[in-house]
Amino acid sequence: MEFPNPAKLHNQHVSLFAILSIATIVPNPAFATKECVFPAIFNFGDSNSDTGGLAASLIAPTPPYGETYFHRPAGRFSDGRLVIDFIAKSFGLPYLSAYLDSLGTNFSHGANFATSASTIRLPTSIIPQGGFSPFYLDIQYTQFRDFKSRTQFIRHQGGVFASLMPKEEYFDKALYTFDIGQNDLGAGFFGNLTVQQVNATVPDIVNAFSKNIKDIYDLGARSFWIHNTGPIGCLPYILANFLSAERDAYGCAKTYNDIAQYFNHKLKEVVVQLRKDLPLAAITYVDIYSVKYSLFSHPKKYGE
Ligand SMILES: *[C@@H]1O[C@H](CO)[C@@H](O)[C@H](O)[C@H]1NC(C)=O
Ligand SMILES: *[C@@H]1O[C@H](CO)[C@@H](O)[C@H](O)[C@H]1NC(C)=O
Ligand SMILES: *[C@@H]1O[C@H](CO)[C@@H](O)[C@H](O)[C@H]1NC(C)=O
Repeated sequence: MEFPNPAKLHNQHVSLFAILSIATIVPNPAFATKECVFPAIFNFGDSNSDTGGLAASLIAPTPPYGETYFHRPAGRFSDGRLVIDFIAKSFGLPYLSAYLDSLGTNFSHGANFATSASTIRLPTSIIPQGGFSPFYLDIQYTQFRDFKSRTQFIRHQGGVFASLMPKEEYFDKALYTFDIGQNDLGAGFFGNLTVQQVNATVPDIVNAFSKNIKDIYDLGARSFWIHNTGPIGCLPYILANFLSAERDAYGCAKTYNDIAQYFNHKLKEVVVQLRKDLPLAAITYVDIYSVKYSLFSHPKKYGE
């Protein structure tokens, strides 16, 4: 039930998300002082930014996914492109290949470790028996760590395979992007926890997130772009399964959104702490919640 998370919603508005998410966020001062030039992107997350990881490893999206833009299912649980695609495009970089994809990948300008249905914490039930991806954030970190050393080994061997790998200096110059946490909340809601019990798991979830950021920093990452979580209470999989949930003026499940906002509040605290703990990092906290909520609350304004 948790999988796939309702990509249908971000399909319809995805280009707008990208524009808003980039245009409305005031960057961290560390970004403001110099031009943002990133030769590569390394992404971590769930279906909000999966460009083919789950498709390559466990479950591939079927039509009508992809029909409008790619004209075929393109590894995304979305019809059109994802925010991460627009971020790559805005830097003049190719769309990210999924790390897990063994066919036709090119990692010269980054890699995508996100898989749909991923969580930050160890999932309690995994596909195919349960609803979650086995590639939760700790695993995505491990994959990245191994990717970093193995790609350099391959580059040093030269030839055509070297041209498919990122240059060594790209790892500290790259933008590291994150969009994960939505499924940790979903796991609680569908795991028969009360909303208060799910709320109580939030500090542990954001701490696990923080630990991964530190580990990735320790591998040389310096520029971080962290999406907060969206209004989960506006998503059909919540609305269709929790029929008695109190609705707000726009038909979203209020308490579920309150928990997403509490998650974001704690995430922001963690980011503030990370800026102190990781002095060489530039960390941008991106308020995706507000962007998505404005789409749900004013769809006509955005061309619905
Ligand atoms: C991989 O992508 C880069 C950048 O788009 C390109 O320059 C390179 O030729 C590609 N490598 C192969 C083997 O296609
Ligand atoms: C939640 O409760 C329902 C009804 O009691 C049960 O059918 C379902 O298996 C439970 N789900 C989990 C994940 O425990
Ligand atoms: C979640 O927990 C925080 C901290 O205890 C509390 O302030 C907030 O009201 C809780 N939210 C819900 C919806 O229970």
